Amino acid sequence: MYERLCRAAADDDALLDLAATAPPSQPAPNLLLGAVHDLLLSGVDHQLADFYPTCADDPADPTERDPFPAFEAFCRDHREAIRERLGDRLVQTNDVGRSAVLYPAFARVAGADGGPLALVELGASAGLNLLWDRYRYEFDERVVGDSDSPVCIETTVRDGTPPLPDEPPTVAERWGVDLNPLDVTGDADARWLRALVLPNQHRRHERLAAALDLAADDPPELVAGDAAEVLPDRLGDAPTDATLVVFSTIALYQFPDEAVTAVRETLAEASHDRPVHWLSGDPATPPSDPTYRHVRFEDGTAETAEIAEFEAYGSWLSWLA
Ligand SMILES: C[S@@+](CC[C@H](N)C(=O)[O-])C[C@H]1O[C@@H](n2cnc3c(N)ncnc32)[C@H](O)[C@@H]1O
Repeated sequence: MYERLCRAAADDDALLDLAATAPPSQPAPNLLLGAVHDLLLSGVDHQLADFYPTCADDPADPTERDPFPAFEAFCRDHREAIRERLGDRLVQTNDVGRSAVLYPAFARVAGADGGPLALVELGASAGLNLLWDRYRYEFDERVVGDSDSPVCIETTVRDGTPPLPDEPPTVAERWGVDLNPLDVTGDADARWLRALVLPNQHRRHERLAAALDLAADDPPELVAGDAAEVLPDRLGDAPTDATLVVFSTIALYQFPDEAVTAVRETLAEASHDRPVHWLSGDPATPPSDPTYRHVRFEDGTAETAEIAEFEAYGSWLSWLA
């Protein structure tokens, strides 16, 4: 349905004008589709809702009935509300499936001692991946993490042997930074997170709902701001007996190049006091099937290893290290 809507919208001047009000740093199609989905989830009554499995009990089949006329009418009827969201909201998809790459990556950094780790997430959104050690993981038949967790991440290991200890490494401290941290206890923010998930992806919707519930009891610490500006002030506060790990998933593609360079320089500088580990996807990689990297800084020198390839929502990974 989304493919059909995007192809038709690409030939519609009024919809292109509307989408073009999205900020240049943002993927406009995701923001437009998210804004429409958000309005439908908020209860706006419209025939377009018939096509959305998140809104209709028996959704219309978009291959049998064209959803575009209803979509176009919806965008015309609710132009101002959509415009408002394109101006206020960011593409902040927060998917705990991405913790599937964090589990073995953190295990690699923690090594045989199993921690403790001091974790800092860049572009954390609502911070759901900061709670990675509270989830159950099924890597094919291997179950690790918190086996009783209501949040279950199922991942196929396509290649290699990721380190998967029964227990996750211990965490001494964790916090995240985001331009606009989302509040897991706020209805509007939680709805926006749901709106960013494709309406027919039931499993992702269920997993997001479970993760939001779990996080609401003990929300992660999030700092509002540009990661490149916040990091230099806060990095020195990390407990000295913990291994310092700065990480991100599918976030750096939204950072300006100068911000990524500034982050890198801050980490290199901090590594004169202690080793610093940087785990991230490559900023130039498109969000689908990214490569995950481990950069270890010591005394200002960086050593880089490509450690994994993974599907953007964690359904599979290949361990390269
Ligand atoms: C696509 S979301 C990814 C969220 C999360 N890392 C995940 O994988 O589930 C990217 C996040 O990066 C944030 N972001 C973009 N530029 C940023 C910057 N310069 N500093 C901090 N956060 C930023 C956005 O606000 C957004 O929440």
